[in-house]
Amino acid sequence: MASAPSRSTPWWRDAVCYQIYVRSFADADGDGVGDLRGITAHLDYLERLNVDALWLTPFYTSPQADHGYDVADYRDVDPLFGTLADFDEMLAGAHARDLRVIVDLVPNHTSSAHPWFVAALADGPDSTARKRYLFRDGRGPDGAEPPNNWQSVFGGPAWTRVPDPSTGSGHRGQWYLHLFDPEQPDLNWDDPDVGDEFESVLRFWLDRGVDGFRVDVAHGLFKETGMPDVRGGAGTGPTLDDTMSQWDRPYWDQPGVHDVYRRWRQVLDSYPGDRMMIGEAWVGSPESMAQYVRADEMNQVFNFHWLSTPFSAPALRDVIAETYAAVGPVGATPTWVLSNHDVVRTVTHYGGGDLGLARAKASMLAMLALPGSAYVYQGEELGLPQVDVAPADRQDPTWLRGGGVGRDGCRVPLPWSGQAPPFGFSPDSPQPVRTWLPQPGWFRDYTVEHESHDPFSTLSFMRYAIARRRGLVDRLSHELEMLDRGDDVVAFRRAGVDGAPGLVCVVNCGTVDVPVDDLGTAVVLSSALAEGTGQLLPDSAAWFLS
Ligand code: GLC
Repeated sequence: MASAPSRSTPWWRDAVCYQIYVRSFADADGDGVGDLRGITAHLDYLERLNVDALWLTPFYTSPQADHGYDVADYRDVDPLFGTLADFDEMLAGAHARDLRVIVDLVPNHTSSAHPWFVAALADGPDSTARKRYLFRDGRGPDGAEPPNNWQSVFGGPAWTRVPDPSTGSGHRGQWYLHLFDPEQPDLNWDDPDVGDEFESVLRFWLDRGVDGFRVDVAHGLFKETGMPDVRGGAGTGPTLDDTMSQWDRPYWDQPGVHDVYRRWRQVLDSYPGDRMMIGEAWVGSPESMAQYVRADEMNQVFNFHWLSTPFSAPALRDVIAETYAAVGPVGATPTWVLSNHDVVRTVTHYGGGDLGLARAKASMLAMLALPGSAYVYQGEELGLPQVDVAPADRQDPTWLRGGGVGRDGCRVPLPWSGQAPPFGFSPDSPQPVRTWLPQPGWFRDYTVEHESHDPFSTLSFMRYAIARRRGLVDRLSHELEMLDRGDDVVAFRRAGVDGAPGLVCVVNCGTVDVPVDDLGTAVVLSSALAEGTGQLLPDSAAWFLS
């Protein structure tokens, strides 16, 4: 299979990157919401997990309408999460442990509390301030209809009407576009102020020492000229990833985005130390995805194919083949993602219970054996299933806007220790702290403390798997040879380099045991191998040196 080339090896190429959803990782100040000092306090845990890098979701000044993806000040930390000094301390602590840090950049939209948008509302039509966003007159009598039929990813119309500042409060004025929540107005990337501002924001964080950026909604930013109606109706899908991946929309994957990423790449490359960016780009084809990772654009894009794929060998083989089809021709490195803060947790996606966990561990072994970098979402290392958050407790704007059940169930604060909420997420206090989303009682079986004491826990498995990967990865080729071990089996081999043995990974997606005794000299690791029989059990995976 075509492979990524051997450019000199930047740190991110084979990195395991751990995603920290800051609100839900660890709370140091006792308000029930995670914060930067909470991360600093748990850097030893992350080092012990053997990951190479951390990606932090937005911690910037924000009214939190979309939990931080609505940024009011791109150069400061929200008091909810701490201060810039807390950020610097966290970054220094991470770097001291050889952990790189990637921060989230949100360029498609700001918060409605951003000073630019506040000025745009006050200054009225045709003002400089309004040109930085996408304001339009409405259609129909008195402009009472939205300018087009676009729908928000979170449900409902993508347009909101504002008062006209010149005619007083009784009159209705223009409409502004928000592909997400009304409190997330879309920026106008044709306005030069916008590009200049984001270059300056990049430099601000690069100067502070961050190692890279995760670019939110990287396939957004530009809209088709004239903003035409969505053809064939505007309907939204039932889940966020459906709506994000309706790629034939006139607001996704427009050609103008590539100039932006070329400009950013030049900025990144002007700093020492392999600074990088990875894009969240939901696009329709391997060819479109490849455009984002051409040699002068992004370093990586998330590969979301696996997230929505069932645990089936043909489907997983397709994911691998399509990924290589996308990145191979442009010489980029593959990435692999099983989970993140926007989707149902893997264990639940694969059916829940012991079956879901077995499949999640098998998929994790496959992901960690594949060439390229792997992104692990907090809680995956504990085998956390999705939480069924009661409707009254839900906070995701997707749910609040009628766009589906929402994403709260994968965002519940992590359980660290103890027998009852807040499970060590927040500090001890006479009155137990209420976490921003309630934790279920069954979290007691998933705490870091509990799993650390159990050599057969998911956490012990993950620590070992990532450590073994780290020991092997420098001696493995990025070439991937697919092996035919039957319809229900995914099997591949990476050759060893410089005389080192290769690595074979076998995943049994079928219902019967699969013989593996001919595959290699030593089993490196297995999620369920029947001891002494040479058989790999259903819903499991194993690595062999070969
Ligand atoms: C991305 C984020 C998601 C957020 C959306 C709008 O998809 O991952 O959490 O709601 O962008 O910024």
